[in-house]
Amino acid sequence: MLSIDLTGKRAFVAGVADDKGFGWAIVRALASAGASVCVGTWPPTLKIFTKSLERGKLDISLPGGGQIEFEKIYPLDAVFDTPDDVPDDVKADKRYVDLEGYTIQGVADQLRADFGENCLDIVVHSLANGPEVQNALIETSRKGYLAAVSASAYSMVSMVQRFGPLMNRGGALVSLTYLAGEKAIPGYGGGMSSAKSALEGDTRTLAFEAGRKYGIRVNTISAGPLKSRAAKAIGTIDAMVAYYSEHSPIPGPITADDVGFAAAFLCSPLGSGISGETLHVDNGYHVMGMQAPTQP
Ligand SMILES: NC(=O)c1ccc[n+]([C@@H]2O[C@H](COP(=O)([O-])OP(=O)(O)OC[C@H]3O[C@@H](n4cnc5c(N)ncnc54)[C@H](O)[C@@H]3O)[C@@H](O)[C@H]2O)c1
Repeated sequence: MLSIDLTGKRAFVAGVADDKGFGWAIVRALASAGASVCVGTWPPTLKIFTKSLERGKLDISLPGGGQIEFEKIYPLDAVFDTPDDVPDDVKADKRYVDLEGYTIQGVADQLRADFGENCLDIVVHSLANGPEVQNALIETSRKGYLAAVSASAYSMVSMVQRFGPLMNRGGALVSLTYLAGEKAIPGYGGGMSSAKSALEGDTRTLAFEAGRKYGIRVNTISAGPLKSRAAKAIGTIDAMVAYYSEHSPIPGPITADDVGFAAAFLCSPLGSGISGETLHVDNGYHVMGMQAPTQP
């Protein structure tokens, strides 16, 4: 029987801080398929995440039995590549001051120290941040725009640069994008649409470059709307979910697990011929060119 078997593989999933978002669903799918999973968690959310885990407040159950067990949780702030990039006020911030190695290079170094060379098979980039997301692009400041692109797109380039050397040939990286990178989506502002366009373009270029350099595949999943913690910041997420549910070829909302399963497939040997792809997991919404007639 054909199945997804990731036994003996190690994944690093960046952007996990609760059990509501896509990162968590991807962890669950990868762990269900047998992978060991490490996560990278943004320092401002680290304490609440680890406390919630300790107190049993997160749903760690795996479909078919068993529980999620994280091999290790690393603090990660993906806007910093190396310690020299971290400004003094961030170093001194109470959420950072006791932490070490939370830059992208810092996490790569820790992974190498903890597990040795060639310790990764799967890398997932499931993070984004746009401080001015509620401002239309036309009202967005240069600072806000560059912050969105830095956190949400360049972070993937940096992760391929720094985690690529740790990855086994045949490995795979997957990121999360959104339709606003291809089409105009009212309300998805602050340069976040620009960041998603960059992420999708970079997926194609990095697929070529990292494919040749490290023998890994690079893909991105364009997910339909989900009411995650990050999406609530957009301010219009309920309306987006309702609109997609009504007008998609497959009516109804997508689930985080829909994306988790697609990510597990893309990162598994079953996806071995796929690289540079933007895979839509949105109940088909992206193919629509006109609103669906109201359901009788
Ligand atoms: N929710 C949606 O509707 C939707 C749709 C399409 C794509 N996406 C994408 O899915 C990905 C995951 O988002 P989500 O919606 O599951 O929300 P989420 O809140 O679960 O995940 C976003 C994560 O990014 C982390 N993060 C923010 N800034 C960071 C930084 N500088 N360094 C490290 N981590 C940082 C947050 O702590 C959080 O854990 C994002 O790329 C998002 O743009 C979301």
